Amino acid sequence: MAEEKAAKTAVLMVEERVFEPPKELVENSNVMQYMKEKGFKTEMEMRAWTSKNYVEFWGEMAKKYATWHKPFDKVLDWQPPYAKWFPGGEISMSYNCLDRHIKTWRKNKVAYIAVGEPVGDVRLFTFWDLYREVNKLANGLKSLGVKEGDRVSIYLPMIPELSIAMLAVTRIGAIHSVVFSGFSAKAYGDRVKDAESVVSITCDGFWRRGKTVPLKTQADEGTADAPSVKHQIVYKRTGQEVPWNKGKDIWWHDLVADQPIHCDPVFVDSEHRLYILYTSGTTGKPKGIEHAVGGYCVGPPQTLHWVFDLKEEDVWWCAADIGWVTGHSYIVYAPLSLGSTGVMYEGSPDFPDFGRWWKIIQDYGVSVLYTSPTAIRMFMKAGPEWCDKYDLTSLRLLGSVGEPINPEAWMWYRKHVGRDELQIMDTWWQTETGTFINSPLPTTPLKPGSCTFPLPGYNAEVMDEAGNIVPYGEGGNVVITEPYPSMLRAFYRDPERYMKTYWNYYWKVHPGWYLAGDQARRDKDGYFFIQGRIDDVLNVAGHRIGNSEVESALVSHPSCAEAAVVGKPDEVKGEVIIAFCVLRSGNEPSDKLKKDLVNHVKSTLGGIASPSELHFVNDVPKTRSGKIMRRIIKSKALGKDVGDTSSLANPEAVDAIPKIV
Ligand code: WT7
Repeated sequence: MAEEKAAKTAVLMVEERVFEPPKELVENSNVMQYMKEKGFKTEMEMRAWTSKNYVEFWGEMAKKYATWHKPFDKVLDWQPPYAKWFPGGEISMSYNCLDRHIKTWRKNKVAYIAVGEPVGDVRLFTFWDLYREVNKLANGLKSLGVKEGDRVSIYLPMIPELSIAMLAVTRIGAIHSVVFSGFSAKAYGDRVKDAESVVSITCDGFWRRGKTVPLKTQADEGTADAPSVKHQIVYKRTGQEVPWNKGKDIWWHDLVADQPIHCDPVFVDSEHRLYILYTSGTTGKPKGIEHAVGGYCVGPPQTLHWVFDLKEEDVWWCAADIGWVTGHSYIVYAPLSLGSTGVMYEGSPDFPDFGRWWKIIQDYGVSVLYTSPTAIRMFMKAGPEWCDKYDLTSLRLLGSVGEPINPEAWMWYRKHVGRDELQIMDTWWQTETGTFINSPLPTTPLKPGSCTFPLPGYNAEVMDEAGNIVPYGEGGNVVITEPYPSMLRAFYRDPERYMKTYWNYYWKVHPGWYLAGDQARRDKDGYFFIQGRIDDVLNVAGHRIGNSEVESALVSHPSCAEAAVVGKPDEVKGEVIIAFCVLRSGNEPSDKLKKDLVNHVKSTLGGIASPSELHFVNDVPKTRSGKIMRRIIKSKALGKDVGDTSSLANPEAVDAIPKIV
């Protein structure tokens, strides 16, 4: 991180709108029950106490949310930058997600409503179904010689078998490394080789926009030169023809055909690794983020229960992909651990049309929806008529994750999806954190675009480069100051990079402060507003300007659905702002509209933030998890080498970015 970027960031936009939570939501919320039990009078008092006394708090939550095979000796052993949570404890994630439910009435409760992309392809999985399938596969893995601590790579689409595979791997104490099914053969191969996985689990193919993706072929290509892989398990999803590697490949259905439906879970040490998840960040070699079992049995269910207020009868839909941490935590581990019912959708949101999601909500009575700003902006672009067509009255709470949500997108989401009534939980977190860090609770008054405050048991601050907490109203680095159960434990076999990426920055001031890599400001009431990644911050005439504020100003114009801004070097100002805008349907690009948009930014944020150039594009380049790739946009616009674009969701969007120098 460049030194000059550590100065404070200007605050341009101030959000005045406040949305109070409805009384009924507050009174019946899970968090209110905790507050009443403990005698906290206000949410802020409770947040302050639990964050200050986080060790005691997590000790209590660990007993409430997880079932331990052997109780832990103590709550925390913190030797920065390494934490051990619940040392001495022994536990099984698979047991927590399955075995404890099948002993109750939940045995035949629906765990997953699995909606395939082909219309009408729906499968229901109860907890007992999952239990059986997980155990058979776990026995199958054992029969292939997979042992505790071995790595198993999983390359599967959004079908319940992905969740089953993860639970089977962890059941026998092995460690999974899931790779997003939208990644290329090479990306899969690199991750398999880095993890030295002994088994690869994939499928023949899957459905995407009405076509099949030949995943098995990609898996073969990726693992062709990975000698560690002794076996490849292939689930039959589409029935398409596949090449076959004799001696290595085995059909999933053949492997499990004669396996018993019981397999004793292996109870492992609390610090045993649950999984590795590779995250590329924006540059360089992917980092293998390691997460530990014990903390993961506690943080995800606790945060899901409190933030999204899940009740026994809710139908939860986290519309992310399990290939990302959002899905690991909030499609697999947290909801299953809580014994809840969730929707899993295989396909694309626009197949066969933009009504698909809204029809799923109507058909299955989804009550809590969790999605991303990029999806919301896509629906804004398509127009509200798609959600207006369906009955969405089953919804009672909404959520957002992945990027700063532009206040206008927030308003649109509330209005068109949330009937102008529903609260939106804007959760700020990372692959590294495993759970939400900053987020509203159902009791929190909301401000559009704000992820509000650190959750109970978590501690985050906004600091300058010297490690001083910046006053309310100013911007700086987001720093997590205390450990928490679901935090990352290491980078797989790369301790140096682990140290360098997060801990070195403030080490001299305070060992153990974690640099998150995001910029934020707190407003006068202490509400956090994420301003963007540190590396994306603009520097105009000596003023540091968060990209997210300029983009949000553009999106607040009724014609603009999405915007990306980057800095162009300028002799006088250091940098000037270049904007790329995607229009909402029904708007035509014109010079007049360009001027209107620039003037709109000027009047919203002031002249300092107004773009010196604005271009209309159909789409902006994004990662497959929906993050705008400003670095690539900037390189293309400045006529520089854009590097490898194969990891993008829409590489063609790069070609459409005009060269502006
Ligand atoms: C980065 C982490 C966490 C699951 C998905 C992404 C950005 C995430 C928000 C939010 C503003 C957000 C940050 C963060 N981010 N959520 N609610 N508001 N920014 O996981 O791929 O590890 O990305 O996503 O920049 O550091 P990830």
